[in-house]
Amino acid sequence: MSSSDEEGSGEEYLFKIVIIGDSAVGKSNLLSRYARNEFNAHSKATIGVEFQTQSMEIDGKEVKAQIWDTAGQERFRAVTSAYYRGAVGALIVYDITRKTTFESVGRWLDELKTHSDTTLAMMLVGNKCDLEDIRAVSVEDGRSLAEAEGLFFMETSALDSTNVIKAFELVIQEIY
Ligand code: GTP
Ligand code: MG
Repeated sequence: MSSSDEEGSGEEYLFKIVIIGDSAVGKSNLLSRYARNEFNAHSKATIGVEFQTQSMEIDGKEVKAQIWDTAGQERFRAVTSAYYRGAVGALIVYDITRKTTFESVGRWLDELKTHSDTTLAMMLVGNKCDLEDIRAVSVEDGRSLAEAEGLFFMETSALDSTNVIKAFELVIQEIY
């Protein structure tokens, strides 16, 4: 499960977390907001895989999360099995302004379960909650899907930072 970066230190943990969900739901911006406090209003679709390593302290120990981000679009995706291999946490993201992205969550969960070898800490994330006026998925619908599937749930905004740190850190904490 956890693998240590510096073998033998015993004080350091490295967890792999994957972010999945349809194209343009905001996966890359959630990651850049969390890891670098950056938001890009004109970000391009991800091609292949990118990852960022982020540290946090839990119980006085340094915990590192290696967070992987890939393309929502099938044609830009990396090799699926390699993407999921060794992951112990996942954020499944939809866009609260586009119902189709919420309807895709089941397929993303199926893919996650097919390719992962352990029990994962999973969080359902309804992103773009700053766009309340064009909301298409209610908070209740998000929450009840999460409950039915045994996932944590949070609405976030990579734009205004709402719950971004919380969402990642809750998953990391749960793994730890
Ligand atoms: P793929 O790489 O194609 O899978 O897309 P993605 O899920 O990584 O989406 P990305 O982060 O590139 O964001 C897509 C668009 O949504 C960009 O124009 C972002 O600026 C915008 N966006 C992302 N997060 C938010 C958010 O919380 N609020 C608003 N209003 N826009 C957002
Ligand atoms: Mg992306």
